[in-house]
Amino acid sequence: MTDQLDLRDPAFVPDPYPALAAAREEAPVLWHEGLGVWVTTTHAAANDVLRDRRLGRILRPRSDGDDAWTTFDWLHADSILDSEPPKHTRLRRLVAGAFGRGHVTRLRPRVEQIAAGLLDDVERILDRDGRVDVIAAYAEPLPVLVICELLGTPTADWKVLRDWSQAIVRMYEVDPVPEAQRDAQRACDEFASYVEALAAERADVPGDDLLTSLVQERDGGDRLSPRELVATVVLLLNAGHEASVNGFGNGLASLLAEAEQLDTVLRGLDDAAAVDRLVEEMLRHDSPLHLFERTATTDVDLHGVTVEKGQKVAALLGAANRDPAVFADPDRFVADRDPNPHLAFGAGIHFCLGAPLARMELQTSTRALLGRLGPLEVVGAARRPTFVLRGYERLIVARSRPAT
Ligand code: HEM
Repeated sequence: MTDQLDLRDPAFVPDPYPALAAAREEAPVLWHEGLGVWVTTTHAAANDVLRDRRLGRILRPRSDGDDAWTTFDWLHADSILDSEPPKHTRLRRLVAGAFGRGHVTRLRPRVEQIAAGLLDDVERILDRDGRVDVIAAYAEPLPVLVICELLGTPTADWKVLRDWSQAIVRMYEVDPVPEAQRDAQRACDEFASYVEALAAERADVPGDDLLTSLVQERDGGDRLSPRELVATVVLLLNAGHEASVNGFGNGLASLLAEAEQLDTVLRGLDDAAAVDRLVEEMLRHDSPLHLFERTATTDVDLHGVTVEKGQKVAALLGAANRDPAVFADPDRFVADRDPNPHLAFGAGIHFCLGAPLARMELQTSTRALLGRLGPLEVVGAARRPTFVLRGYERLIVARSRPAT
């Protein structure tokens, strides 16, 4: 039993790691009284939860007679993330097929262009004000613009897509307030209508984008239902956005706190393998997604406890990624850590489908920012008050002054 982890406590969110470490000392799997779920504290236990097929993603519909939740419910029920085999296997194969057709490789030069365009503004602000918020000016627009490019949605729509996706993901936090619930319902209705209209356009006039590939899957033998198509596009926009913004912001803040390592990183930006290792450590050290739940379909013995049929268990990814049994000196950011078997992208059948895209995006954007601006330091920051999606509201940086 743990009462140390009050995931709703605003004092816990800024630095949850000491409390997670203390909980790990207690046991690998603990009962969380406040949430009424089991939580994992170690890498091995989180990994087992994500891979054990007796622990499934089982969705409880929210509607229960309330029509306002209808779209929210089917957007989730018909998405890959919230389905289980055999439906999950079919959806994942179809989407992976459409995703795999060269779309990520095709995008790398475009990501470089998008990053360079945004950096023009970032540099202008930095020169004018001496400081710049890299979340607003860089980290936030970049993944939405990239996902628009991938899917083939008009780039001019990125702000409205960002707003819908932010409204929906607020529902994944512990205890969303009524206003957040209404915003999420509205966002789901508007988002679904938007995707339906765009899919109709692509059916008439195909492009060379992912949306066209998905429309062809839908229309070529009914292998993807109309709702599954919309749910997939909405999931890709949500998943492809929030975690990437936070992965970049959290990771950059961790790196900039290490002046000596930053110096080495700046000198090694041409070494692709070094940048790959840097990005893995950015994702491990302060992971952007902290909690994923499963429900037991039968009694499951898990690291000394029994998760009874119907009970939920949450894999805590941030705790897993600081487990000293797997990572030497786990609280320290080590830019060239290798190997780095972090769980930031999950594990098992739901392992992040967008990981190759997310990695390419983070490598490209990190290299572009550091290459253009050189040494930076954090001069102001505000954390988002949320635990599950961990990130910065603002991360203000300035050019570092040379040491005297
Ligand atoms: C740093 C960025 C990202 C992180 C840390 C991340 C993390 C994750 C994690 C932990 C899961 C597993 C959830 C679970 O087990 O319940 C997941 C699933 C998924 N992610 Fe990502 N993700 C990122 C970026 C992306 C991007 C860019 C896309 C696509 C454009 C994407 C698409 C997906 C999809 C479709 C799934 C569901 C896969 C399935 O259920 O089979 N993600 N992601």
